[in-house]
Amino acid sequence: MTELEDRRVQLKIITLFPELIRSYLGDALIAKALNKNLLSIELIPLRDFSDNSYKSVDEAPFGGGDGMLIRADILEKALLTILDKAKNQKVIYFTPQGKLFTSAEAQQIAQDQMGADEIILICGRYAGVDQRFIDQYVDEEWSIGDYVLSGGEIPALVVIEAVSRFVPGVLGQLQSAEEDSLQNQLLEAPQYTRPQVWNEQKVPDVLLSGDHKKIKEWKQKMALEVTQKKRPDLLKKRNSET
Ligand SMILES: C[S@@+](CC[C@H](N)C(=O)[O-])C[C@H]1O[C@@H](n2cnc3c(N)ncnc32)[C@H](O)[C@@H]1O
Repeated sequence: MTELEDRRVQLKIITLFPELIRSYLGDALIAKALNKNLLSIELIPLRDFSDNSYKSVDEAPFGGGDGMLIRADILEKALLTILDKAKNQKVIYFTPQGKLFTSAEAQQIAQDQMGADEIILICGRYAGVDQRFIDQYVDEEWSIGDYVLSGGEIPALVVIEAVSRFVPGVLGQLQSAEEDSLQNQLLEAPQYTRPQVWNEQKVPDVLLSGDHKKIKEWKQKMALEVTQKKRPDLLKKRNSET
C-alpha cells in the first residue's frame, strides 16, 4: 500500500439501501475525492445477509412497541465480513440518541480517521436495531441532529460530504474549508459579489479597497459580530477553549 493509499479516508457502510447512498456519490465534490483516491467508500448491502427468501432483516420487538427492529444476528453477519483483527476499526451506529456529529468530527476523520485505520458506519432503519448488537459491537453512537429520520442513509451522506470538504486536495484552491463557518467556533463574515450596487445596497467599501490587511481585519471583526448575533453559544465555547 502506498503512503497516499494509506492516508485516504476509508469508510465502510452497512445499509439496507445502498442505492440511496450510491446515487449521491456522483456529486462533483465526492466524485472528485473518490476518483483521486483520497476517499474510499464500500457499501455493504444488509439484505444480502438475510436468512429467508423474502430478504427481510427485521423482527417485531419483544415486549411490544411500534415498528420492527433490525436483527442483531443479521447485522453481525454483515459486520463480520468486514471486521479485521489486524486493523484498528471504529464502528459507528447512527441514532438520534447519539453524540452530535459536528464539523470537529468531520475534520478529525479527514485528518487521521480519528486514529482508526477504517471507519464502519451502520445505518439503522425501522424502529432501530436490537440493543445487543450495539452493546457488543458499536464503539460510538452519532446523531446528526435533534430530529428522527427514517434511516441512517442521510446521516451517512452527511458524514461523507462533511468529511470530504476537509480532505486535502478535494476542495479547489479558491475554496478552503478552513474559512467556512463553524471553524474555530466562528461563523463566516458576510460575502458579496457583482453588481457593486444592487437595489440601492452597496458592497462595503473595504472589500473594494484592495487592501488585504484591512479586508482580513474586517472579515475577522464581522465573523465575531455575526457569530455573536446568530450563534452566541459558539462564542461562549470559543472563549472557554482559549
Ligand atoms: C426511525 S429511526 C429509529 C429511532 C428510534 N426508535 C429512537 O427513537 O431512538 C430509524 C433509524 O434512522 C437513523 N436515524 C434517525 N434519526 C437520526 C438522527 N437524528 N441521527 C442519526 N441517525 C438517525 C438511525 O440509524 C435509526 O436507527
